[in-house]
Parts: sequence; structure tokens; C-alpha cells
Amino acid sequence: MARDYAARCPVSPVRSTWLLAATVLLFARGIAAQKVRVEEELEAYPTESVELRCQFIDGGGRTKLTQVSWIWEPTDGQRDNIAVYHPMYGQSFPNTDFKDRVVFLHNSLENPSIRISNLRMSDAGRYTCEYATYPSGNEQGTTTLTMLAKPKNSAKVVTVQAGTKSVVVAQCEAADGKPAATIKWLASVGGNHSTSSTNGPDGTVTVRSEYRLVPTPTDNGREVTCIVNQRTQERPWDHAMKLSVEYPPSVSIEGYDNNWYVGRSDATLLCLANANPEPTTITWTAVSGPLPDTVVVDGNKLMVKKVDDAVNTTFICEVKNKHGSSKTQISTLVIEERRETTPGPSSGAVIGGILGVLAFIGIIIGTIFFIRKRQEDGEGPPKHKPPPPVKASSSTEMLNKSSGPPTATETAPLSPGEVYYEPTGREPVTNLDDETTGALNGGAPPVLDDSAKYDNVNELTDHNLDPSNHEPPAANISRGESFVSPAMFV
Ligand SMILES: *[C@@H]1O[C@H](CO)[C@@H](O)[C@H](O)[C@H]1NC(C)=O
Ligand SMILES: *[C@@H]1O[C@H](CO)[C@@H](O)[C@H](O)[C@H]1NC(C)=O
Repeated sequence: MARDYAARCPVSPVRSTWLLAATVLLFARGIAAQKVRVEEELEAYPTESVELRCQFIDGGGRTKLTQVSWIWEPTDGQRDNIAVYHPMYGQSFPNTDFKDRVVFLHNSLENPSIRISNLRMSDAGRYTCEYATYPSGNEQGTTTLTMLAKPKNSAKVVTVQAGTKSVVVAQCEAADGKPAATIKWLASVGGNHSTSSTNGPDGTVTVRSEYRLVPTPTDNGREVTCIVNQRTQERPWDHAMKLSVEYPPSVSIEGYDNNWYVGRSDATLLCLANANPEPTTITWTAVSGPLPDTVVVDGNKLMVKKVDDAVNTTFICEVKNKHGSSKTQISTLVIEERRETTPGPSSGAVIGGILGVLAFIGIIIGTIFFIRKRQEDGEGPPKHKPPPPVKASSSTEMLNKSSGPPTATETAPLSPGEVYYEPTGREPVTNLDDETTGALNGGAPPVLDDSAKYDNVNELTDHNLDPSNHEPPAANISRGESFVSPAMFV
């Protein structure tokens, strides 16, 4: 019977093993010794109900039962009688706290099981089913009732300003749980956390954890995840958050190509700012005074309608947000004559070209060889498949695509997260870029020790982001290139 109970009882495997062991032990001690059969341990949640089973096992039937009581011990030493059954006088519920919440399930002295409903956290404790018998005296069995409470979990990000001090950037809380929850953090940023707990009046525990970091602009938008583990949860609760780090602008000017010759009409400068929140104002000025008449400003863009002496000056771009302002300048030297800037082929294009030429020659030789062979073989069916004729046509088809930057030489696929360390990635990016991809994917100082153990997680994250950030595998591109380049030389 007790084993039956144990099987139904919602306890962990370890505990049920103990329960089983305990049961076996009890049986070993002799049937005669244990006449009152109860469950050893029960767990329940507030507002639910629980059945406390009890049964008197009388082998020979010689024992006379007088009365049975349920005694509640919330703490050691305090004993409260909450339910009494007497075959002649009936049922009695002497404790007012339990009076309306306790019932006997059977009107039976041999089976005085009770149900307690509308449970409270404070109902936890030991419940003893105690018989008054003759001739052996009192017989009893005790059930320990553990009240459990699911924690109420929450997490939030704290918006901070970039700085040099370690500050709280995220908080996580598991409130009113029993037993106490544990809180862990997963993060690719190099912070640390501190966790504290406070005991509630009813045995519950509120656990709070704070994630701290010396926030830098690159931490903005990075992810930290709070994970709450607790007995009553089927699985860990987790909450991923994007850090919110605000910082004053940093500015750069793009677009000057060292070729502002007199009469040029499409000279443009771009003022790029990285700021959080977004810049409130972007201002262009000239060091020599007001902006020349030939200049048109549109937001962060400065356009020169027609290059002349007036723009032989230094332009300044100043950007503000609520945390401060920042400016930078560029001297635009106006030259008399247009500079011939046939961009020299980059090494990538040269290599691609050479490979392409080799491949092209290879195909021609192959084709000639094939034709020769075919002529030798006469009219007989070809022993080999002809080389796919698509190659020839593909070289012209691909011509259109050759307008792209000729940088796609054969390279091993980048390992995750590395893409932002490419030299080209060093150029200042727009704020938008930084927030959407750069910040998520790295391009920031390597993670610190604290996060090293979560490396696998970082990889996972980066992998997930991969498809959107990377070009398709390099092999495809380089194949295309090698057919493109010869066409350019022809
Ligand atoms: C957490 O990091 C800060 C600085 O980053 C340091 O001052 C503090 O001692 C660290 N705390 C723990 C518990 O490691
Ligand atoms: C622009 O200014 C530089 C000196 O700052 C001068 O050498 C150059 O001749 C100027 N260009 C024109 C077109 O006047």
C-alpha cells in the first residue's frame, strides 16, 4: 500500500528511491511494528488540495481501536490537533485554521484519510495520524507535507550610458518561489552578476540577480539571457534581452576622393555618425565661414553643384544627441585638372584574371582536343560526354555581373563572427548598421573570461545570424569570376 502511494506521489526519482528504501526498511522492521500506514512525503501548491491517507493494518485483528486523530506540527514542538474521529461521538475539527478545510474521506476508524483543501503556504509541516488503541497504546504514522510555490519570473534591461564604471545593465527576478530558485546568466559581453535572496513570511524566497558591465557603445544591442531554474518548473524559464547602452555621437566624413577638379558636378560628402539615441542634429559648416553658395546640404549629405575655388576649404560636420556632440572636419583640396584615376586592378582581380585566363585556355585546349579526338573516332558514338557547352555562354552571361567589386578571390569561408574584423569593416558604419548587425555579431573586443564558458552559446548565436550576413560560399563566386575575367581581356 505504501509503495502504491509512493508511486503516485509526485517526487523526484532520487526521492522516490529513498521512499522505496524507507518502505522496504519499514517492512523489514516487521509488520507488527508498523500498523499505521501513511505516505512519507507529499508536495502541494497553494489553493490546491491534498489527501493525507492513513490506514490501520491489524494483522491478527486483536487490536481494539478507540479513536484516531490527525496532529499537525508546523514546527518542532508545536502540535495542533486538526481532526478527530470517534466511532461513537463522530468527527471533530478542533483547529479553527483548518475547520472548514478538512474532511474525512471515509467515515471509518480503519481508514481515517483526510483531505485538506484551499491549501496555504503555511500549511507545510508534519501530519501525524495517531490512533489510541488497546492493548498496545498509541500507534502513529507521519506524513511530511511540503508546500511548493512556482516563482513569478521577470527580467528587464536597464538603459545605461556608456562609461568606465561597472553598472547594472539587466535585472532578473524569481519572486515568491519555494524552494528558492536559482538564476543564471548567458552573455557574450564580459560582465558579471550578483544574486541576492530575501525570505518571504510564508517560507517562500524571492531571488534577484543583477547583471553588471562596464558599458561601451559596442555593447548596445548585445544580448544577455537570464535563466531561472526551480523545482516546480517543468523546464528552465529564460528571457533574452538586448542591452541598451546610450552614448554620444562619434562622427566621420566619407566621400572625398581627392579628385575635386574645377568644374566637377557630382562631388558629395557624407557625414556619418554613430550615436545612441539617434542624432538630433547634423550641422555642416565651412571653416572659412558660411557655406559656399555652390553647396547644397540635405541632412547628413553635402553636395557640390559645381566645384570651384569656393569649396577649396575645410568642411566641418557636427552631430548632437542628448548625451553630447562631436565634430570632425575634412579639407577638400580643389585641383585644376581632373586626376586620371583609372582604378588599378586590385590584386584580387589580377589573381582572378590569371585564374580565369588559365581556365579559359584550358577549355579551349580541351575543346580542340575533343574535336580532334572525335574526328579520329569517325562517326562512332562519342565515348565521352562533350564538355558542357554552357561554359562558353556562361562567360558572356557572367559579364554583366563583373561590375561588382573584384574582391571575391578564393577564400575560406569566414569563421563566425570574424566578418567584422575585415579591414573594410573598419570603416565607420552608420548607426543603423551598428545596431542591426554589427552590435549583434561582434566587431567588438573579445569576450572576457567570465563569458568564456559560454563560448558554445556565442557560436550558436553567430551561426544563426550567419546566413543573413555572409555572402554565399566563396566557391561559387570565384568560379564565376574565373569565367568573367577572360571575357574582359578579350
Ligand atoms: C564584477 O566586475 C567588476 C568590474 O567589472 C568588479 O569590480 C567586481 O569585483 C566584479 N564582481 C565579481 C563578483 O566578480
Ligand atoms: C586650393 O588651395 C590650395 C592651398 O590651400 C592651393 O594650393 C590650390 O591652388 C587651391 N586650388 C585652387 C583651384 O585655387
